[in-house]
Amino acid sequence: MSTTSSPARPTAPYFIGLMSGTSLDGVDGVLVAFDDGGTSCRVETLAAAHTDFPPELREQLLALQVSGADEIHREAMAAQALTHCYAACVAALLSTSQCRPDQISAIGAHGQTIRHRPESGYTRQINAGALLAELTGIDVVVDFRSRDLAAGGQGAPLVPAFHQRIFATRHAQRVIANLGGIANISVLPALDGKAAPITGFDTGPANVLLDLWIGRHRGVYYDAAGSWAASGAVCRPLLAAMRSDAFFAAPPPKSTGRDLFNAQWLDQLLAPFADVTPVDVQATLTELTATTLADAILACAPAADAVFVCGGGARNTFLLSRIAAALAAGGRALPVRATTELGMPADQVEALAFAWLALRFTQRRAGNLAAVTGAAGERILGALYPA
Ligand SMILES: Nc1ncnc2c1ncn2[C@@H]1O[C@H](COP(=O)(O)OP(=O)(O)OP(=O)(O)O)[C@@H](O)[C@H]1O
Ligand SMILES: [Mg+2]
Repeated sequence: MSTTSSPARPTAPYFIGLMSGTSLDGVDGVLVAFDDGGTSCRVETLAAAHTDFPPELREQLLALQVSGADEIHREAMAAQALTHCYAACVAALLSTSQCRPDQISAIGAHGQTIRHRPESGYTRQINAGALLAELTGIDVVVDFRSRDLAAGGQGAPLVPAFHQRIFATRHAQRVIANLGGIANISVLPALDGKAAPITGFDTGPANVLLDLWIGRHRGVYYDAAGSWAASGAVCRPLLAAMRSDAFFAAPPPKSTGRDLFNAQWLDQLLAPFADVTPVDVQATLTELTATTLADAILACAPAADAVFVCGGGARNTFLLSRIAAALAAGGRALPVRATTELGMPADQVEALAFAWLALRFTQRRAGNLAAVTGAAGERILGALYPA
């Protein structure tokens, strides 16, 4: 009988992912170990945390979404305040997991998007990477999107490659829909099918306009479970006007953000509909998210057997029911469920993706999918601030 000793555990086997998206609600963090060999990736999550942005930081970040006076200074100050939030999230992750900084290979920190202008060749995620390295004593990888843009891509979405590694299934095409501020889908081919490319793109707003509207009329951050929208009625002519935006009909690759779907966009569309009540506008916006997502799934995932949702919008049960209804109306009665049912809590998926992108960076392996972003090829994404 022969004995084999198991290989020594690497000294820094863990990764942290930090994601704060267009909703401006706060930062989601995870501390994980990956077993990323073979056709799929196994994830062991040691800790997950969410740190809310203080209201002042939210206001600062919101103000930076449009150009204005002294914005270089305001950007630098907001980036530092954001980084202190990120560092608090890292401290919570280390404390929950009982890990030391020297056990973490790298932090993948997305940063906060204040401009996304692929048509002009740039996207900007603010983030004080040097300060985060200083505050945490851990290698920090930032700026994941710009290399894909440099290669002619959209720089977004970056999550489909990770979705494929953890959610693809042997026999069926599967759709993952992330419902953050913006909605994006990943269409994952079956692993044993013909080598079909993975597709993925932004489908339009998910929560960004819902949050804006309920904030304006009811003074809360979001429509919990979609209950306000559920009490209203969809205004069909208003929905048609919203759906006529050229973004929805444009073919992929495509990505979007607050640069397009913002207060100005909404107010211009609402001007001829002054008699529509606020609650009916909320119902109509929910229908906009649901129908544009369903349209994208109907057009690009003809063989999917299920849709799994992640992001904060997975908690909007009314929205999920409207997505299922829109799919059924298009002739595809697919189940719409949270990724939590696949063992990946819906609130953690995007942060996990940025931990995985940090892993890819440390391995000097590509993080983008050219078929998704439209880049000239696959590229190593990110820039390092050493501990
Ligand atoms: N209980 C709930 N009911 C309805 N909506 C919710 C609930 N909880 C969270 N949300 C929505 O989810 C949003 C936050 O989602 P999430 O953090 O995934 O978005 P994000 O920060 O824009 O992320 P990303 O850009 O990575 O997708 C909130 O702004 C809110 O609109
Ligand atoms: Mg968020």
